[in-house]
Amino acid sequence: MLLQFIQALYIVAAILFILSLAGLSKQSTARMGNMLGMVGMVLALGATIAHSLHLSDTEPHRRSVGVTLLLILVVLALGAVIGTPIARKVEMTQMPELIAMLHSFVGMAAVLVGFNSFLAPEGQAGAVHLVEVGLGVFIGAYTFTGSVVAYLKLSAKMSSKPLVLPGRNMLNLGAFVVFLALLIGLVSIPSASVGLGVVVVAAIALIGFALGYHMVAAIGGGDMPVVVSMLNSYSGWAAAAAGFMLGNNLLIITGALVGSSGAILSYIMCRAMNRSFISVILGGFGVEGGTVAASSEDHGEHREILAPAVAELLTEARRVIITPGYGMAVAKAQYPVADLVHRLRASGVQVTFGVHPVAGRLPGHMNVLLAEAKVPYDIVLEMDEINADFAGTDVVLVIGANDTVNPAALEDPSSPIAGMPVLEVWNAKQVIVFKRSMATGYAGVQNPLFFRENTAMLFGDAKDQVEKIIAALPAKVPA
Ligand code: TAP
Repeated sequence: MLLQFIQALYIVAAILFILSLAGLSKQSTARMGNMLGMVGMVLALGATIAHSLHLSDTEPHRRSVGVTLLLILVVLALGAVIGTPIARKVEMTQMPELIAMLHSFVGMAAVLVGFNSFLAPEGQAGAVHLVEVGLGVFIGAYTFTGSVVAYLKLSAKMSSKPLVLPGRNMLNLGAFVVFLALLIGLVSIPSASVGLGVVVVAAIALIGFALGYHMVAAIGGGDMPVVVSMLNSYSGWAAAAAGFMLGNNLLIITGALVGSSGAILSYIMCRAMNRSFISVILGGFGVEGGTVAASSEDHGEHREILAPAVAELLTEARRVIITPGYGMAVAKAQYPVADLVHRLRASGVQVTFGVHPVAGRLPGHMNVLLAEAKVPYDIVLEMDEINADFAGTDVVLVIGANDTVNPAALEDPSSPIAGMPVLEVWNAKQVIVFKRSMATGYAGVQNPLFFRENTAMLFGDAKDQVEKIIAALPAKVPA
């Protein structure tokens, strides 16, 4: 009866997770999606704890239910004590590193579950189970070191340059072949030789650790967002593998959901950056992350503008588009931007946002910031929805965006970002670029947009500048 109830709870939790993902696909339903996910997770945790208490009370485990409960509570408390302050103080811009670190935990959990499930009394029985152990340990180990390297690169604790070893693709291929040989070995070892089995599982883990390190170290800073999303997918498959080993259906379903949504997201991001998924995984591409000095190539003169003049342009405009980028997040300019938009709309100016799929530093970064500042969802459009509108636009405000509005991506085949689809802001009558200097963006390439006839640079912190524009708006623009 208890077991059936637990299974029913697992099914309800799985349905809630699916509904949660569906909710997260649209901004207007994202909050509800998050709530459903949280409720699902509470049910899943409750059911899992009940399940382990039940198992500890039955043969062959038979140990005190009280001790099991105590152990679970200690582990939960430890996680909460460490995790809560980290989650509270993490900046939105540090999210990718935090996510990378969390993926490493999933990877390590799958490795430990693999060893545990191999050493359990019934652990060496059955080829299918042994394949589950081998795959779980391998994917988990790969996810662990890969995620640790991604974390170190994203937090600038390790150079984000790609590590390019001679014959690296052959090395990777060789590691896969050795893994397959070890897996076959694991299945063929007689079940009595537990010691030898442990050695083989440990060798699989080592190969996974080394491959994860090597493959992610070979990927440059520019491709890190895709890598984090790819590791997200792997962590899902590692969790699904753990689910198979533990015979836990909910873990299998959740792992598959995470695994496939991570894979779909990686694909979408690759398309937005005009990279093939395979070329990202094989690495060797990508420039050093972070802002670097402007290139020496002569692009001509740039023009500057001051906030009062921008205020005047905006009040005279009929159509305005705002394209936010990473700089808006750094400056925390979303609140004054929302205020400016509110005032302009109230005085009859048509204002929309154009959001590039990889603007900022994590998927949906800009959407989250704009939602936080209560910008209405219906005026926030995606790149494909807005690109044709720039031609009929009076003023475009490029607030802290750089690579995502770089015409070189379309016009210069030798550019490192050639082929990346971008927001075609230069087709508007007037473009105002908010940034602090002429430095390059994440990809480290200079932006010819800054030197165009119809572009003017508004230098300074984006938040300060937007506040100055608001202060300079004429009295006829309502507050
Ligand atoms: P970026 O090209 O990174 O440019 C951001 C610009 O913001 C910089 O040029 C910087 O110029 C400016 N800035 C920084 N702080 C500022 C402040 N306080 N006030 C005003 N401006 C400020 O941004 P983007 O257009 O959003 O492009 C994103 C890039 O990151 C792409 O290359 C993308 O591939 C990559 N990436 C994306 C993701 C995801 S999934 N979204 C994840 C990782 C990497 P100054 O220094 O001169 O101020």
